[in-house]
Amino acid sequence: MLNRIARPVAALLITCAGVLTAAGPVAAEPNPDVTVIAHRGSSGIAPENTRAAIAAAIKQRADFVEIDVQRSKDGHLVNFHDCTMERTTDVEQRFPGRPSYRVSDFTLAELQQLDAGSWFDESYAGEPIITVADVVSQVRGRTGLLAEISPCEHYDGIPEDLAAELRGTPGYLDEALADGQLGVQSFELDDAQRFHELLPEVPIGLLDAQRPTDAELVALSEWADQVNTESSVTDAALLARVHELGMASNVWTVNEPGRMRQLRDLGVDGIITDFPQSLTQR
Ligand code: G3P
Ligand code: CA
Repeated sequence: MLNRIARPVAALLITCAGVLTAAGPVAAEPNPDVTVIAHRGSSGIAPENTRAAIAAAIKQRADFVEIDVQRSKDGHLVNFHDCTMERTTDVEQRFPGRPSYRVSDFTLAELQQLDAGSWFDESYAGEPIITVADVVSQVRGRTGLLAEISPCEHYDGIPEDLAAELRGTPGYLDEALADGQLGVQSFELDDAQRFHELLPEVPIGLLDAQRPTDAELVALSEWADQVNTESSVTDAALLARVHELGMASNVWTVNEPGRMRQLRDLGVDGIITDFPQSLTQR
């Protein structure tokens, strides 16, 4: 289940597991059941956001796969991280002289001609960019999906398109929600809130590279389920407050096993990592 804690239950959990001191709440009890979230798939061992990275995450028993949702020129939602494609594809060779290499300036047919694997390793040559629909088919019934609405500034309407895509996949929403296998997150407060208005039943998280203020946390707790902070700004007091307010926290991006253990013992709910096998291997 991806971190939707019913408010009264959350309060009970904090009462049982947290420690209240005169100085305020401190660390919750260690959480042995930390949710393991494969960042862009198992992107430490396969090219990020490709079918291969997602297949590796499923094989490694990650609880969730995290993806980055953008939109092609002709309106298809695709899974790609950077706003432009030079770093992880051969776009400059295949489409020389184009004025922009933004994902949103290419049709799906053009995006599907790109090699999104060779930059990582020649053994992945020809690995294509995939759509969000492809991702849903690949993860459905196998693992959870944590979809990030891209922060690339030139987009409008990704929350609406993502909600329509999820709703439009017959049976998927009900099935994923029943199994606790779906969540959406964004760095953009407006996008996260908009998505929440459209599909309030889907757990929604705000990504934050900074430590949120208490006032921000209280405001978020009115509608958000998760506060997903960068791991270095996450500490026991923050986690205790997030939990006290009935929310959860999936921290990112944590690749060092010692740091994973430390954060798990601090009480994080989920760890977003390029190497999920570090947490799932027994
Ligand atoms: O899921 C957290 C993480 O994905 C946020 O950063 O830049 O990798 O999308 P980024
Ligand atoms: Ca992301």
